[in-house]
Amino acid sequence: MAKIQSVVALEVLDSRGNPTVYAKTVLDDGSVGKGYCPSGASTGKYEDFELRDQDPKRYNGSGVLKAVENVNKIIAPAIIGLEIDDFRPVDQKMIELDGTQNKSKLGGNAVLPVSISVAEALAKSKKLELFQFLAPYFGASNEFIMPLPHLNILNGGKHAVGSTDFQEFMIVPVKFPTFSEALRAGTEIYHALGKILLERNYQPLVGDEGGFAPSLFSNEQAMELLMMAIKEANYLAGENVFIALDPAASEFFYKDVYQLHRENRTFTTDELIDFYKVWVEKYPIILIEDGLAEDDWRGWQRLNAELGAQIDTVGDDLYTTNKTRLQTGISQKASNAILIKPNQIGTLSETIETINFAKQNDIRFMISHRSGENEDTFIADLAVAAGGGKIKTGAPCRSERAMKYNRILEIEAMLGAKAKLATRDTSQNSGMI
Ligand code: PGA
Ligand code: ZN
Repeated sequence: MAKIQSVVALEVLDSRGNPTVYAKTVLDDGSVGKGYCPSGASTGKYEDFELRDQDPKRYNGSGVLKAVENVNKIIAPAIIGLEIDDFRPVDQKMIELDGTQNKSKLGGNAVLPVSISVAEALAKSKKLELFQFLAPYFGASNEFIMPLPHLNILNGGKHAVGSTDFQEFMIVPVKFPTFSEALRAGTEIYHALGKILLERNYQPLVGDEGGFAPSLFSNEQAMELLMMAIKEANYLAGENVFIALDPAASEFFYKDVYQLHRENRTFTTDELIDFYKVWVEKYPIILIEDGLAEDDWRGWQRLNAELGAQIDTVGDDLYTTNKTRLQTGISQKASNAILIKPNQIGTLSETIETINFAKQNDIRFMISHRSGENEDTFIADLAVAAGGGKIKTGAPCRSERAMKYNRILEIEAMLGAKAKLATRDTSQNSGMI
């Protein structure tokens, strides 16, 4: 047991140059933990409340001084002095202090950094690596599964204005012996894509998640470029490298239809599902996240019924890491997978509950960063501890993304033979043009 000695928050900057909350917790044995809140651009309607000051004189209204004050004046006094060897009582205390469904009193962005910083301080206090400290919360294991990296190498949607309508075009190196080899393959493909774009006179500029953001005339052109880049880097699309998509469809769903502005096309739900079906036949796609909008339950049911045997149908905005929404999804057979973003739900305890609930119900899960990130590598440890076998944390470019992959490299080296790279059955996904 250690006693919480101090908890202090600050307003700092994220990878987009927007203010965010940082919290530092110190225990009476000298252990220190730090936590940061990431922030989304294509946020789901059902996410926790992100408290911003709305003071137009500071950061165009996006300051977080109120959230910082909530940590320093409300949360800190309530938890300083607590004797802990588990972070869950601290999370519980914050949930009670907040008292709302969506953390709208204190702000999810006040609660999460404290939750993470307490967990990190406790891991230090117990002289454990963070992933080792977290593992028992998911059912302890002696062998650790390294997650397959889902590298977002081409950015569109809200993360790259002027690029594709679909938000994320990811590559997934699957049949590699180690995480480091998979990451190398993904990175070589990333650089091959940069070279191809330059040869075609596109500026090799990157979007919010470090992927290239060329001004393309269609979404399919992005798929063609990915296929070219895989080949150019001497890998085999549909054999050892696959494709994952996050269209982030809630962002282009207006007036009951899906509107792809880049290519001037409009789809009903059924037409968009048929469109994905053609792509899954044509390209080696293994995962589609948010293929449909967050309230299009009927569409999700059909998508999952028709493609769920071949690909992971992942709910991000659909579930917002919320166990109750996942429960609805399970009862409706709306998807076979969930995206996990701790700041969508607020505390680490609630994140773990949702993951364990997914596991109990055979729902696959992928741990995820946000488009607005920071130097915290917490999700890398979470992905290893939870053992879901999948992480997405952007392109292998820009330090706020690369350092999360780097942390997994560090964990893999630390574990040696005990680190096993996740596998993925791809026998249903060899779609090729
Ligand atoms: P966001 O995007 O962090 O901007 O919400 C990431 C995603 O949609 O997966
Ligand atoms: Zn998403």
